[in-house]
Order: sequence, then C-alpha cells, then structure tokens
Amino acid sequence: MTYGTRTDHYPAISKLLHWLVAVCVLTTAVVAITMTRIAEGATHDALYAFHKSLGVLILVLMLLRLINRLAVGAPIPDPAIEPWQRTLSAIVHTLFYVLLIAMPIVGYVATSAYGAPPSFFGLFDMPPIAGKDEALATQLFTLHRWVGYLVILLVLTHVSAALYHHFVRGDNVLRRMLPRAMTGSDEVLAPGTPPAHRLR
Ligand code: HEM
Ligand code: HEM
Repeated sequence: MTYGTRTDHYPAISKLLHWLVAVCVLTTAVVAITMTRIAEGATHDALYAFHKSLGVLILVLMLLRLINRLAVGAPIPDPAIEPWQRTLSAIVHTLFYVLLIAMPIVGYVATSAYGAPPSFFGLFDMPPIAGKDEALATQLFTLHRWVGYLVILLVLTHVSAALYHHFVRGDNVLRRMLPRAMTGSDEVLAPGTPPAHRLR
C-alpha cells in the first residue's frame, strides 16, 4: 500500500514515529555532549547508561520507521517548493534514515569491544556483539563522535528549514507533520494526483 494521492498530511503512524525519534535524538545528543564533559562519578555513569539505552531505542524506532516508510510511503512534496529544496530535503531525510540506523550499531559494537555493552534502561543487559578489542573500540568511538556531530548539524539544518517554511513562507510543510488535532482540516485530493514517492 502507498500513501497514494495525498499531499496534505503524513500518515498518523509516520507522525508518531517522527516525533518520538525527534525527542529521543535531541535528548541523546544533549546527554552525549554532557556525559563526555563532566567528571567521573555516579551522574557520569548514569548519563552514559541513559545515552546507550536511548540509542538502542532509536535503533528500534528507526527500523520500525523504515518498514513503515517503505510500506505506506510519504505524501508528495508541495509542487510550489523549488526543485533544489526538494532535492536537499530528500538527501537530508535519507541521511537521517541511514545515519540513525548506522550510529547506534557503531555505538553498540564500540561499547561491546570496549567491554561495556548497553543495558536497556536497566531492564535487561544487551549481549556483547564484538569481542574485547580496545583499539577497535577507540576507532569506532571516534567515528561515532564525528558522525554524531554530523547528525546534530543535519538536525539544525532540518529544524531551521521547517521553521523557515512555517514562519517565513507560511506554507504547509510543517503542518503536514503536526498532529491532526493541531492543524484541523483533512483535505482529500482530486483523483489523478500523482502517487506517493517512496524514500524520495
Ligand atoms: C542515534 C543514536 C546516537 C546518537 C545520535 C549518538 C550521539 C553521540 C555523540 C554526538 C557522541 C559524542 C559526544 C562528544 O564527544 O561530544 C556520542 C558518544 C558516545 N556514544 Fe553515542 N549516540 C547514539 C547511540 C549510541 C549507542 C547505541 C551507544 C552504545 C550502545 C552509544 C555510545 C556512546 C559512547 C560510549 C560515547 C562516548 C564515546 C567517547 O567517550 O569517546 N551511542 N554519541
Ligand atoms: C531532531 C530530530 C529529527 C529527525 C531525526 C527528523 C527526521 C525527519 C525525517 C527522516 C523526515 C522525513 C519524513 C519521513 O520519511 O519519515 C522528517 C520530516 C519532517 N520533519 Fe523532522 N526530524 C527531526 C526533528 C524535527 C523537528 C524538531 C521539526 C520541526 C521543528 C521537524 C519537522 C519536520 C517536517 C515539517 C517534516 C516534513 C517535511 C516534508 O514534508 O517534506 N523535524 N524529519
């Protein structure tokens, strides 16, 4: 099934997953930057554990999101939006899918190689997925950190674009990702509207 002939709203499940992932990514980024800059101690350890658990949760949510996206597609872009903006947004959205699946896996392998695999919010311990290898752990943490900064840069770009569309251009871009209760009407497009793009 595709999302078919609509441009006005993302499917409800896509919106739910978008905002859950957004909250987790913003929180885990702030936690990551704090945990690596404070002195060792109970707070430091708790923040590391929280960061790792949130990262695992993001991996699960992103895999669900990928399945959902491939299954239901997305509304077609507003035709009034310039082609370069559509291309840039497609690149950023695709990078989010790739990086937010790859990053937690790199973090999980790195912490396994370091000898401190994650527990999931204290509920259960995740099994190590790599043998102990401190040199590998150090390399993967460096990769994880720089890709993490790239994700933060992409989030800043993405949020600025959403706010620009909403407050400067006054178009529908942000509204179609907001809960229906916040936006009101539920326009259904005329027959013949082109089909939804998949992973555009
Ligand atoms: C999408 C999810 C994730 C994001 C966006 C993310 C982001 C980041 C960022 C930005 C840093 C660097 C902080 C800094 O040095 O200023 C970092 C460090 C770290 N992350 Fe993640 N992370 C994610 C998932 C995970 C997962 C799943 C694990 C482990 C299971 C993990 C373990 C770590 C560890 C141990 C560090 C510290 C590395 C060091 O001390 O050099 N992360 N993360
Ligand atoms: C912080 C982490 C965030 C991530 C990782 C993220 C990721 C994504 C992705 C991957 C999409 C493509 C839709 C899909 O196929 O699922 C998307 C769409 C969208 N996001 Fe975010 N997002 C984040 C935060 C935000 C925030 C804070 C806002 C608003 C201020 C926002 C506004 C939007 C809008 C308006 C769209 C729809 C764009 C369109 O229809 O072309 N996002 N986001």
